[in-house]
Formats: sequence, structure tokens, C-alpha cells
Amino acid sequence: PSLGLTDARRRPLRDLRISVTDRCNFRCVYCMPKELFGRDYPFLDHDQLLSFAEIERVARAAVGLGVRKLRLTGGEPLLRRGIEALIAELAKLRTPDGQRIDLALTTNGSALPVKAEALREAGLNRVTVSVDSLREDRFQAINDVRFPLARVFAGIEAAEAAGLGPVKVNAVVKRGVNDDEVLDLAEHFRGTGRTLRFIEYMDVGSSNGWEMADVVPSAEIVRRIDAVHPLEPLPATHPGETAKRWRYRDGSGEIGVISSVTGAFCGDCSRARVSAEGKLFTCLFATAGTDLREILRSGATDAELAVALSGVWARRDDRYSELRAQGVVADGPRIEMSYIGG
Ligand code: GTP
Ligand code: 5AD
Ligand code: SF4
Ligand code: SF4
Repeated sequence: PSLGLTDARRRPLRDLRISVTDRCNFRCVYCMPKELFGRDYPFLDHDQLLSFAEIERVARAAVGLGVRKLRLTGGEPLLRRGIEALIAELAKLRTPDGQRIDLALTTNGSALPVKAEALREAGLNRVTVSVDSLREDRFQAINDVRFPLARVFAGIEAAEAAGLGPVKVNAVVKRGVNDDEVLDLAEHFRGTGRTLRFIEYMDVGSSNGWEMADVVPSAEIVRRIDAVHPLEPLPATHPGETAKRWRYRDGSGEIGVISSVTGAFCGDCSRARVSAEGKLFTCLFATAGTDLREILRSGATDAELAVALSGVWARRDDRYSELRAQGVVADGPRIEMSYIGG
């Protein structure tokens, strides 16, 4: 069967990650360190952001080109006022053969107690919540705004109660910061139906001072958990998935490991990203994007928008993580994670 639109490496376009704001109410030390994201940080103004109508047009064009999953990100996506209205519009989109789109959202969880119900009613399918530590003092030191862990768990529970479950939980592991909690985290979520994914700390942006020594390889994480709770590998749910899945042999659920440093998954990467101001990036580590806002605001038709998108995808040759593993990436300014949404 034809794959439809593919890039220069024969990879189809399947996922669109849409950042709806570059702001966040947390200041995670590895993502938006306070010293750099302070009071005078030049966050985008409201008129620089794509409007909901503009986001919806971009998403509709992307769905026409093969996208099956839309993921809303930030910064913190739930800070964007009225996000439910955007979700309601995106939930109406259908693939060319009439299928629903998988509509997901990555959040720090802080607003879920208030918002979960409305998100579900608007048509959101599921949420992924970040939990890097189970120790109150450490959790608050990482988010650096003293946000209480219990409130994030209240958010996870609210999401499940609203029908947004099963919730996925993301934990970024950084050596010397929270790697002593790998087993605790695994045991905490084991048997709860919540899938925990351990993420290798990545060299995104220029503000987090990343070093290879900070990275805890996924193989080490799997080994540490497997030694206590035997694991076996699971097949990917779809090609190009970020996480490698492992199931507990005793049937108490699964975990995932996202190894973008030690096990690049560029080979079938089907993700494009749109920043809050409407720049299209074809790699998390891209240094330049295509200005879709300019195209939208200069009166392009839907057909012209689709041509622009498919042109960018057709030329795409990115495989940053693979190249980094081979030691051949150039240094240069990178996009911040809080800008592009991971
Ligand atoms: P699922 O639909 O649940 O599989 O979500 P996801 O894993 O695609 O999204 P999520 O927002 O939970 O991202 C998990 C981690 O994977 C984050 O740290 C992302 O930055 C990282 N990630 C997602 N996509 C890519 C990618 O294309 N390349 C790299 N290197 N990392 C990615
Ligand atoms: N490396 C890996 N993951 C990161 N995230 C933020 N910064 C990094 C980084 N440098 C995670 C967030 C969230 C997801 C979208 O990306 O914690 O779970
Ligand atoms: Fe933390 Fe996510 Fe906010 Fe970054 S965007 S500061 S990782 S909560
Ligand atoms: Fe895709 Fe770029 Fe991530 Fe590789 S590094 S998986 S090409 S986004």
C-alpha cells in the first residue's frame, strides 16, 4: 500500500505536536531555569500566537496529509485560555477515510483538578502527566515553584475520573538528581494501570547545561527494575513510537523507556511540530522552522497551506539523535523545550 506523503527518508507524516503557549507555571530546573526564564523573559505576546482558528486550519491540513495523532503541548498547554474550545474543534477532525484523530495533551498536571472534566467534554482522549519525583521536597525543588506533589496526583485522579485515563506518566531521569528513585517510581505506578515512561535527559535547548554524564541510559533503568520485578519486551503499538515498552512478567502492567540519547528512534520518526507562534519544525532539535503564521496571515487558501506543509515534509531529512550518537552534530543555537513542547 502507498504510504502517501513521505519525507526524504521515506517516513510518513503521522503525528503533529502543537505547542499552544511558551509559558509555564513551573520552572523545572532542567527546562526553564529561573535565572533564564525570569520576570523579563520575552515570552510571546497574545497576537504573536496562532489563534485557535489558525491552529485548526494547520491541523486540518496536516490530517489531510496523513496525520493521525494530535498532541497539544506547551510550555504548559493548560495555561492557554479557553483551550477547551480549541480541543472541541480539533475533536471534529476526521482522516480522509473517516477515522477519528487521537487527541492527546502533555501537561504538568497542575490545572487538571480544575480542567479535566471540561477537557473530556470537549473531546480530549487522554493526557500524559510529568512526575519526576515522589519525594515532596525533591519534587518542589525540581519544579522550583514549590508546587505540591499531592496536587499533581489530584490532577491525575481528576483526569481518570473524567474519563481521560489510563494516564501516562513521564519521568525525566537525571543522574544525581532523581536516578535513586527509579525503582520507587516503578513500584509506585506498578499495578495502577498508569503507564510510567522513563525519559533519558536530552540535550535540548541551550539553557539546561546538558552533559552526557547526566544521562541514565534506558538499559540501566530496565536492568534495575528487571532485577526486582522481571520484565519482558512488548512490541511497539505503532511504528515510530517514542517509548520502548516493557511488561511486568507477573501481569502488573507495563513501563516505557524513551531513549533518545542512547537509542535514537529517528528511523521511523513521523512527528512534526508547530510552535505557539506558528513555526513548523520537522525535528525536536531543528534550528530553523517554516513560518506558517506568515502563510496563514497572508491569505493562503487551504490548498496553498497543504502545499506548503507537504513541501516541507517532502524535503525533510532530519535525524538529529542518530547523528549525535555518531558524534557528528554541529553546535548551534537550539530551540528551547518550553518553546517547542518536547
Ligand atoms: P505517546 O502518544 O503517549 O506515545 O506520546 P509521546 O511519547 O509521543 O509524547 P510525550 O509528550 O509524552 O513525550 C515524551 C518524551 O519523548 C518527551 O521528553 C519528548 O520530548 C520526547 N519526544 C517526543 N517526540 C520525540 C521525538 O520525535 N524525538 C525525540 N528525540 N524525543 C521526542
Ligand atoms: N530531556 C528529556 N525530557 C525533557 N522534558 C523536558 N525537558 C526535557 C529534557 N531536557 C520532558 C518533560 C515532559 C516532556 C514533554 O518532556 O518533563 O514530560
Ligand atoms: Fe517543567 Fe514542563 Fe513547564 Fe518545562 S514545560 S518547566 S518541563 S512543567
Ligand atoms: Fe525525530 Fe528529530 Fe527526534 Fe530523531 S531527533 S526522533 S528525527 S524529532
